[in-house]
Amino acid sequence: MTRLLVTGGAGFIGSNFVHHVIENTEHHVTVLDALTYAGNRRSLEGLPEDRLTFVHGDITDAGLVDGLFADTDAVVHYAAESHNDNSLNDPRPFLDTNIIGTYTLLEAARRHDVRLHHISTDEVYGDLELDDPERFTESTPYNPSSPYSSTKAGSDLLVRAWVRSFGVQATISNCSNNYGPYQHVEKFIPRQITNVIRGIRPKLYGAGHNVRDWIHADDHSSAVLTILEKGAIGETYLIGADGEKDNKSVVELILTEMGQPADAYDHVTDRAGHDLRYAIDSSKLRDELGWAPQFSDFEAGLASTIQWYRDNEAWWAPSKDAVEAFYAGKGQ
Ligand code: NAD
Ligand code: DAU
Repeated sequence: MTRLLVTGGAGFIGSNFVHHVIENTEHHVTVLDALTYAGNRRSLEGLPEDRLTFVHGDITDAGLVDGLFADTDAVVHYAAESHNDNSLNDPRPFLDTNIIGTYTLLEAARRHDVRLHHISTDEVYGDLELDDPERFTESTPYNPSSPYSSTKAGSDLLVRAWVRSFGVQATISNCSNNYGPYQHVEKFIPRQITNVIRGIRPKLYGAGHNVRDWIHADDHSSAVLTILEKGAIGETYLIGADGEKDNKSVVELILTEMGQPADAYDHVTDRAGHDLRYAIDSSKLRDELGWAPQFSDFEAGLASTIQWYRDNEAWWAPSKDAVEAFYAGKGQ
């Protein structure tokens, strides 16, 4: 049995990964999470106590991290400040967690020769034109737009340097936009679903022509597990499920699925520096490691996500008012 350390395991994608690992493997999981505004202990409720240890702490705490690395076989690093809109408001926590936090983990991986998988984003590649036939590949040049994506790009480059200079056993994956249960209501899809539940009109930035390449969080988890088991040290793998949709279409789908007129939304102030389009070519992961996504039907995945937010109001309600007050202050 392998001992896995998962940083950020109380966040959206990290908690989905912990559920996936416990359901599909024999591994023991230790979660290291600072429980920032984005972390929620309740996202790990119901999991067997003998399979999961929760450590409340910060990835920039070198002493704590060192002790945990001494006692683990592999680390999957999800912990991050993850929201673009917050990074435009106050970039500093993004530098601390995404850069210094990743550096702290790399130094511990180096000392203890522990396998590390670094979770990153397609946003490091910047954006594409709407009519560009190309998609991002592992060799697309880095060109991040926001404070968030630039700190993620920086963290990726640190990982590459620690592999090359110090022989750290690391891999990197860059994934597109995730949707599914346990996503914070600040993000696009859960914000609009919970708006409709609360009787608030959904809010679309600008004209809503921006395209995101949606993947279900459980498909992201299966891809990460595949890379952890079969990935080659030092390699980067792009994760995507051919899910390109413009934001306007996604809002219309949510409204229709929730029994509202498809045009019952508001256009609001656009995001500064708003990336136009992301699109992932995940051929390397599929061809070399044999991974394939299971959630090919976006509308079905969206319907089950809507149902999850209907069934779990107690999970998201405590954050909703503060999130809407933050956006209202920005005209969004
Ligand atoms: P999230 O904001 O929902 O969760 C982040 C988690 O990290 C929270 O539990 C938080 O408490 C924890 N955390 C933050 N700072 C910490 C620190 N200093 N020490 C310990 N824990 C800390 O984020 P998410 O959407 O689940 O994203 C997880 C990872 O996946 C991030 O690295 C992000 O860049 C990457 N990613 C996200 C997406 C997406 O669509 N959400 C897509 C591709 C990649
Ligand atoms: O591509 C991967 C990235 O996806 C991850 O690295 C990030 O951590 C994750 O947050 C996500 O970034 P985005 O900025 O694409 O996600 P967000 O949910 O904030 O917004 C998705 C799109 O919806 C984007 O074009 C902005 C738009 N939007 C967002 C909100 C919150 C709206 O139109 N209205 C909104 O209310």
